[in-house]
Amino acid sequence: MNNLKSFPKDFFWGGATAANQCEGAWNVDGKGISISDVMTNGTHKEPRRITAVIDESKYYYPSHEAVDFYHHYKEDIALCAEMGFNIFRMSINWTRIFPNGNETEPNLAGLEFYDRVFAELKKYHIEPLVTIYHNENPFQLTSECNGWADRRCIDYYVNFCRVLFERYKDDVKYWIPFNEINCLTTKLGNWNHAGILNGKTEFFTDQTDNPNTRFASLHHQFVASAMAVKLGRVINPNFKFGTMICHITVYPLTCNPDDLILTQEEDLLRNCFSGDVQVKGIYPYYINRYFEKNNIHFEITENDLEIIKKGVVDFYSFSYYMSNCISSNKDSAQVSGNVMGGAKNPYLEATEWDWQIDPKGLRYTLNHVYDRYGIPVMVTENGLGARDELIDGKIHDTYRIDYIKQHIEQMRLAIDDGVDLIGYTPWASIDLVSVSTGEMEKRYGFIYVDKDNEGNGTLERYRKDSFYWYQEVIRSNGEKV
Ligand code: BG6
Repeated sequence: MNNLKSFPKDFFWGGATAANQCEGAWNVDGKGISISDVMTNGTHKEPRRITAVIDESKYYYPSHEAVDFYHHYKEDIALCAEMGFNIFRMSINWTRIFPNGNETEPNLAGLEFYDRVFAELKKYHIEPLVTIYHNENPFQLTSECNGWADRRCIDYYVNFCRVLFERYKDDVKYWIPFNEINCLTTKLGNWNHAGILNGKTEFFTDQTDNPNTRFASLHHQFVASAMAVKLGRVINPNFKFGTMICHITVYPLTCNPDDLILTQEEDLLRNCFSGDVQVKGIYPYYINRYFEKNNIHFEITENDLEIIKKGVVDFYSFSYYMSNCISSNKDSAQVSGNVMGGAKNPYLEATEWDWQIDPKGLRYTLNHVYDRYGIPVMVTENGLGARDELIDGKIHDTYRIDYIKQHIEQMRLAIDDGVDLIGYTPWASIDLVSVSTGEMEKRYGFIYVDKDNEGNGTLERYRKDSFYWYQEVIRSNGEKV
């Protein structure tokens, strides 16, 4: 690797989290109910249930305590600082600030919690990277208006942003308006990404879908994101905003031109569409045909398009866990994946949760997105969900080290290719609750948390082998992997 370009001197090395997956304290200090708080635990095989009424005597809700970052933030941030982080990705739980989402005045106790978190990060010179919306829609908005299907959410969200921008204008520079906004191009996106139940959904993996409502919600989020960007720049012109795309990298399974065309369609819809709107400020041509073909209709006003044009982001960020293949052959073997599955790639291994491991796909993706947009790029999620064993206070997670090492090597190659890659925040800084299954034992962290799938454990933190390994990576600015 020595003859390759190095990681830039000011490269951001850190890790990522989301409030609903780590904070716990779900009903503390005036916090309201988020959509994540009404989701029970599940497994790879048993879907998580969404319960309109919380019944803790019957179900276990993993977000209620999660790993209790709310009360452990000092210890957790100190551990991240020990690893050498200079950036920490986190989200702000909307319902700590606006318990129902629609109030005009914020909940002070919620703001004070994040005051303390930012002060702690500052103490260690760690830059916060703040996701404003990461699966934390106020549940009240689901009951009131089927979530983002209703335009009113735009104003509620922008009001939330105004409070954050004014209060944290000197603490936070990097903002991500919506996590994985493109998930609303899939049926699975309804719930986590927009709080939509359509009055019927019971199980996370089997959601009632209305594409008109879903794409309207996505449109409302595009408008809300652009309004937030515009507002933020007035409050602090130094703010930097980024898109965050769940990059579902796809390859044609074979060189059959039918596979290629299908792959291109899939890439445009799932990956490029949301990026094009948020980075280029336009609705791209190809989406019209998709809407026509699928009979999708929703309201887009001239004013919406003006707003979208003016509120484009400064950097492109994405999550990358795996790649999938696309095949015109309906009988091809399938694998699952993050948000979407696809055809099985015979050249790749998969994890226990059936996500294919493809480090080279990261280099390909980095080139793909940089070529398309030409703005700075950050990998804001990447990591291995795996079972860890705690033996005598140690966790020998060589598999995680291998996974992240191979992805860092590919990032370095992409930098050598000329991609303006500015940061890496793997998932996750610390073990936390899995979104897709609600499990604790699908672990991603560099820091182990003693807690199991049923909620038992001391919540004690332990440094995994990957903790020490990543510390060396950061210390050498990516030279020693
Ligand atoms: C990303 C989400 O899609 O994938 C995270 O932004 C999530 O919130 C991560 O945790 C890993 O997925 P899972 O289902 O294994 O937790």
